[in-house]
Amino acid sequence: MSFPIDAVRSQFPSLSLLDDGQPRVYLDNPAGTQVPGSVAAAVSDCLIQSNANLGGYFTTTRKAGEVVEQARIAMADFLGAQSSREITVGSSMTDLTFRLARSLCRDFAPGDEIVLTNMDHEGNVAPWLEMAKEYSLEVRWAKFDHDTWRIEPEAFSSLLTERTRLVALGYASNMMGAVNDVAALTALAKQASALVYVDAVQYAPHGLIDVQALGCDFLVCSAYKFFGPHMGVLWGRPELLEALYAYKCRCSDDSLPWKFELGTSQLELFAGLAATVEYHAWLGRELGCDGNRRACIAAAFAASQEYEKQLVNQLLQDLSSICGLTLYGPPLGSITERVPTVSLRHEKLAPAELAARFAQHNVFVWSGHNYAFETAKTLGIEDEGGLRIGLAHYNTLAEVRKAVQLLA
Ligand SMILES: Cc1ncc(COP(=O)(O)O)c(C=O)c1O
Repeated sequence: MSFPIDAVRSQFPSLSLLDDGQPRVYLDNPAGTQVPGSVAAAVSDCLIQSNANLGGYFTTTRKAGEVVEQARIAMADFLGAQSSREITVGSSMTDLTFRLARSLCRDFAPGDEIVLTNMDHEGNVAPWLEMAKEYSLEVRWAKFDHDTWRIEPEAFSSLLTERTRLVALGYASNMMGAVNDVAALTALAKQASALVYVDAVQYAPHGLIDVQALGCDFLVCSAYKFFGPHMGVLWGRPELLEALYAYKCRCSDDSLPWKFELGTSQLELFAGLAATVEYHAWLGRELGCDGNRRACIAAAFAASQEYEKQLVNQLLQDLSSICGLTLYGPPLGSITERVPTVSLRHEKLAPAELAARFAQHNVFVWSGHNYAFETAKTLGIEDEGGLRIGLAHYNTLAEVRKAVQLLA
C-alpha cells in the first residue's frame, strides 16, 4: 500500500496555511513538529471539560486524574514500557535530564567515570558535565566515527572501565541525522555494569522505540518533536526510579509515577500527549492494522520510515549534485543508519544567510549549531553551525524539490 500522504496531511491544519499567498514548507521538524487537529482539540477540550487540580472528589478533578493516567498509559504503549508507573512527565527533556542527573550522581564517588558523546545535544551533555564538576567525576568522551557518523562499538568499549557508572547516549543526532546502535552500545555498557541514559528525542518522530529491547535504564523524549505538545517524557526502570533520591516537596507523593514530577501537572498537555499517541495509532489503522495500539503505532512507523527514506534519499542525491556544498551525516540510508535530518554548509554563503533566504520563500529551516555543540566543534563549524533541513512524514517530494531548487 502506498503511503497515505493526503490523509496524513489532512490531519495537520497548519500544513495548509498560507502567508501572503505562499504555502508554508515546514523543514524545521528536528526543532519542533506540527500537531494534528486532534491534539489541539484535546488540549482545548481538557481546559473546558476537566480543568481542575488532581486528587479531589468532584467531577472535574476525577476527569483530570483520568486524563493524566490515560496519557501515561498511551506513552507506555508508545515506548514499549511495562506500566504507566514508569512514565514521568516534565516541561522538557532538558529539564528532566538535569533533575535526574542530580538524583543519580549524588550516589557516585569522586573519580567515578561517566561516558558522554560528541554526537549528543547539550540536553544530554550539560547536565552530566555539571554533575561531574559537583561530584569530581571523570568524563570520558565517545566520539563518532568520521566514516559511519555514529559511535562504533569497538571504540566505545575501550572507554568502559570498572569505574564507569553511567553512559549518556544519543539515539539519533539532531545535526547529522546519524542513528546509533543503542542496543549494541547498551549491551557493552551493561557488561561494565554502567547505567545507560538514552536521549531518544530525535529518534522518536521516526522510529518505534522499544525500551525493553534496547536494554537501557532511562530514556527521554520530547512530545513536541513527535507531533505533540511541548513537554518532555522520561521512561525509567521502576526499581531504579524507586530507589533514587528525589528532590521534591516533603508532602508531595513519593511513589511512582509522581515521585519525579514537581508541582501541579501540565494537565492540558497530558490530554494532548494521549491524543498524539492516538494519532500515531490512527495512522497504523489507516494503513490496515487491526491490532492493539502498540501494533498500530509500529505499523505507522514501518510505513512512514519507507516514505521518509525515499524523501531523504532524494534530498541527499540532489544536494550532492550542487557545487559548493559540504554535507554532514550518512550519505544515504534507512532508519538503522539515519533519520531524515541533513546539515550542510555552503562554501560562500553563511548558514544564517541561507536560512534567511529560504524564509523569503516561506521555507522554514534552521541554521546554527542547534545545541549539538560538541558535534559542531568536532566538525569545525562551531562558528556558524550548519543549515539544517529536517523532514517529517508529512513532507512531500515537491517540498524537497523546492528546497533543492532554492539551494541550487
Ligand atoms: C537530540 C535532542 N536532545 C534533546 C533536546 C532538548 O529537548 P527539549 O527541548 O525537550 O529540552 C533536543 C532539542 O532539540 C534534541 O534535538
